[in-house]
Amino acid sequence: MIDRQTIERILDAAQIVDVVQEFVPLKKRGVNYLGLCPFHNEKTPSFTVSPSKEIFKCFGCGKVGNSVNFIMEHEHLTYPEALKYLAKKYHIEVTEKERTPEEIEKQNERESLLVVTAYAARQFEENLFRSDEGKSVGLSYFMERGFRHSTLKKFETGYCFDQRDAFSKQALEDGHRLDFLVKAGLTIQHEEKIFDRFSGRIMFPIHSLSGQILGFGGRTLKADPKSAKYLNSPESEIYHKSRILYGIYQARKAITQEDKCFLVEGYTDVMSLHEAAIENVVASSGTSLTREQVRLVKRFTQNITILYDGDPAGIKASIRGIDIVLEEGMNVKIVLLPEGEDPDSYSKKVSNEQFLEYIKNNETDFIRFKTRLLLDEASNDPVKKAGLINDIVRSVAVIPEAITRTIYIKECSNLLEVPESVLYQEVNKLMREKSFRERNKYPGPEDLPVPPAGSPAKPVRPLTASFFAEKEVIRLLLKYGSLEFERKIRSEDGKEEIITVADYIVKEITSDELSFNDAVFARIFDDFRFSSEQGLFPDDKHFIKHEDPDISRISADLLADAHELSRIWRDKQTYVETEEMKLHDIVPDVVLKFKSDKIQAYRKEIMILLEEAVRNNDRERIIFLQTRFNNLSLALGHISKQLGNRILL
Ligand code: CTP
Ligand code: MN
Repeated sequence: MIDRQTIERILDAAQIVDVVQEFVPLKKRGVNYLGLCPFHNEKTPSFTVSPSKEIFKCFGCGKVGNSVNFIMEHEHLTYPEALKYLAKKYHIEVTEKERTPEEIEKQNERESLLVVTAYAARQFEENLFRSDEGKSVGLSYFMERGFRHSTLKKFETGYCFDQRDAFSKQALEDGHRLDFLVKAGLTIQHEEKIFDRFSGRIMFPIHSLSGQILGFGGRTLKADPKSAKYLNSPESEIYHKSRILYGIYQARKAITQEDKCFLVEGYTDVMSLHEAAIENVVASSGTSLTREQVRLVKRFTQNITILYDGDPAGIKASIRGIDIVLEEGMNVKIVLLPEGEDPDSYSKKVSNEQFLEYIKNNETDFIRFKTRLLLDEASNDPVKKAGLINDIVRSVAVIPEAITRTIYIKECSNLLEVPESVLYQEVNKLMREKSFRERNKYPGPEDLPVPPAGSPAKPVRPLTASFFAEKEVIRLLLKYGSLEFERKIRSEDGKEEIITVADYIVKEITSDELSFNDAVFARIFDDFRFSSEQGLFPDDKHFIKHEDPDISRISADLLADAHELSRIWRDKQTYVETEEMKLHDIVPDVVLKFKSDKIQAYRKEIMILLEEAVRNNDRERIIFLQTRFNNLSLALGHISKQLGNRILL
C-alpha cells in the first residue's frame, strides 16, 4: 500500500502533458495538445490533452482520465504499478506500508511475474559480468562477436549457467515462488524435478515500452544441432510474443526523433545497429509481423524500413506479412543487404558512414521492390506474370489512401507494362469484394477487440435504472459545484448567505433521503455532502486527482468538454448562452429529473411487493404498500408539474 501523502506528491508531479508526451507525440492546439490516439487506430488526431484540467480524452474512442489512468491504460499496469512508475519518473521515494501476509498473497500475478523476470535479468547479468563461467563462456562470446560492454549493459544481456537448475535453486533460496518461476517460463517443472529453461545460454531480456522485462530470448553457445539456436520465454500473463518488438524500449526516443523505424530480424541485429549509431531499430524476433506490432511502431512514426538479409527465399516468405503494414497506412521501404549479410554482420564489416550510405542508396519503396522482385522471377512467362499482377494489385488494394493508391498504380503500370485502367479495374474489384465481405459477416471471435496484454480486469459497472440522471447530477456537481447558486438572508442573524450549486444539490437530495445506485457516483456524492456540511469545498482537482482510479477516470470524463464552443461562434462574437449562464434553470431541472427517476424506481419495487402481498393475502401489508404507492405517485405528479413541459436531455 502506498500512503496517501505519497500518492498526492506523485499526482502533483506527474504533469499530464509530460507524462503523455513520452508515448504520444503532441502538438499544441490553442490551450490544449493534440495527438494520434494510442488506444485506437486513427489517422486524424482526436486525442486531446488539457494541461489546465490535467486530463486526456480521446474524442474518437472515448478513453479518458488523468496521468495515472493514462499510464494504467497505456502500459497495462495496475493502479499501484502505475503510481510506482510515475514515482520513479519523478524521483519520488515511495514509502510502502508493511504488507500483511494476506496482502502479499493477494499481490496479483502480473506484478509477481514482473518481479521474477526483473530478478532473473539481474542474476543473468551478474553471471555474465562477475562469475568465472559467465566471463569465460558468455562474455568472451560477446567479445568475439565484437559487442561493446556499454551495449551489453544497455540491453541488459546476461548469461544463464550451464547447470541443470542453478538459477531456479538460487531463485527459490532468495524467496521466489516456484509457481511464478514456472509461469514466467524460467523454470521447467517435470514431476518432482526442476530445470532451468535457459541453462547454458546467453540471455536477451525483452522489454516493455516502459522498460519492464516481459520475457527472454536465450541463445545457445553450443554447436549441438539438437538444441535450438534460440529459445524464447513461453507466452504468459506478461509476455505475448505477438504484441511486443525487441528493442522498442531502447528505440522509442530515436524513432520519434528520426521519424522512422528500422525493422530487423534478430536480437543481435538490433544491438549491432545501436553500435553503428542507429538506434531507431526493433526486431520481430524471427516471426512475421503482427498487426499489434505494426501499431506499436505506428504510435511513434508512419515510416518503417525493413532491412532484409540478402537471401531470396527468406524475402519471399516474409513479403506477404508486409501487407499488414500497408493496411495500416504506413510507408514501407525495403533495404536488401548484400548477399550473405545480415544487419549484424554487415554493420560490423563496414564503417558507420558506409552502412548509412548503403541504406540511403538502396532504400526502395515496398511496392516497387515487390514488383521488381516478382518481375525478375516471372521474366517471360505469361502465366506467372498474370499471377504476379494479381499479387501486386492485392498489396495496392489494401492501402487506405486513394492518392497513394493512384501513385502506385501509375508506377506499376509502367513497370509491368500493363495499362493503368486494367490495374484500376483489378484494385477496385478487390476493394469491392473486401467491403462486401466486411458488411456481410457476423463478427467472429477474431473480430472482437483483443483485450490489451494483462490489462487489469475492470469491474463491469452495470447501468442501474437511474444511471443517466445520477450521472447528470454528478456532472453538475463536478463542473459547477463551487459556483454561486443563490443568496439568502439568514433568518437568525439577517446575514447574507451564499448557497453554492453543491449546497443546493446536496440539500435537495439528502432531505428526501434519496441515494445513488452507482457505487462510484455514490462515493463522489458523499464527498460533496461531507464538504458541504463542513462548509468547505473540495478543491478544483480533488476528484481528477482522486486516489481511487475509478473516481478520477469518471471525473475526467465528466469534466472533459465535448461541446466547447466552436471557433466560428467565438470569432464572430455571437452571443451564445452557455450552460454556466443557465444554471438556474438547469440545476433544479436535473435534480427534479433525478428525483422523478428515483421515485419511479421505488414505485416499481413497491408494485412487486404489492403483488406478493396480494398473493399472500396479507391485508395489512397491502394497505401499507398501497398508501406508500399513492404517496409516491402524488410526489411524482408534483414533480411533473414543476418540470412542466420542459424537455430534459
Ligand atoms: N529465432 C528464434 N528461434 C530460433 C531461431 C531464430 O526465435 N530457433 C529468432 C531470434 O529472435 C533471432 C531471429 O529469429 O534473433 C533471427 O534468427 P537468426 O538470423 O537465425 O539469428 P541471429 O539474430 O542472426 O542470431 P546470431 O547472429 O546470434 O546467429
Ligand atoms: Mn546473425
